[in-house]
Amino acid sequence: MDYEADLKGVARPRFGWALTGSGHFFKESLEIMRTLPNLDVFVSKAAAEVIRMYKQDLELAADVRIFKDTTASAAPVGAFYYGVYHTLIVAPATSNTVAKCVAGISDNLATNVFAQAGKCRVPTIVFACDTAPEMDTEAPKGMVKVYPRRIDLDNTEKLKTFDDTTVVESVADLNAAVAARLTWLKTQKISSSS
Ligand SMILES: Cc1cc2nc3c(=O)[nH]c(=O)nc-3n(C[C@H](O)[C@H](O)[C@H](O)COP(=O)(O)O)c2cc1C
Repeated sequence: MDYEADLKGVARPRFGWALTGSGHFFKESLEIMRTLPNLDVFVSKAAAEVIRMYKQDLELAADVRIFKDTTASAAPVGAFYYGVYHTLIVAPATSNTVAKCVAGISDNLATNVFAQAGKCRVPTIVFACDTAPEMDTEAPKGMVKVYPRRIDLDNTEKLKTFDDTTVVESVADLNAAVAARLTWLKTQKISSSS
């Protein structure tokens, strides 16, 4: 990928947002994404399927760049090395993605952006969804009960110990964490470069 050419005329630094295949809080995450300036979205293969199952679409502002998971090497992540992102948000994060992040596995687009953000010290917010022993969650045809496993709960706790990583467990806390990054952004001298 030619990152410099791809970034011509693109405002930066940007928010990066990784969407994973969680039905839980999928719609709420999309709503928050729609409020953000200068946004790139990384869509896991499972997320692309879940979007269709919930009859949602990625209707986002024209300047939002959407990267789908089509390469084995997660090619779009290289932009992290060029200071393109000031913040990464992984929301909603499936228990699968959380487990892989905790184990240091980066084998798809979502887990790769998490790993590269960590290696480039880009502050990251992860909205872990399987965080209570019993939860109501929205299936494509309505609400159902799920009982996250001990390993899911333990992985969420482990992720909280990662450097530069804020783990949130509710929409309110996700909103607050994103708002904090927006407030921080306003204190920075940003020049939209091309
Ligand atoms: C309709 C639907 C809803 C799902 N919701 C969740 C969920 O809320 N939480 C979760 O951890 N996995 C959920 N899954 C399972 C994940 O999509 C699956 O584990 C997938 O492999 C995750 O891949 P990813 O982490 O790369 O996005 C759901 C699957 C389907 C089909």
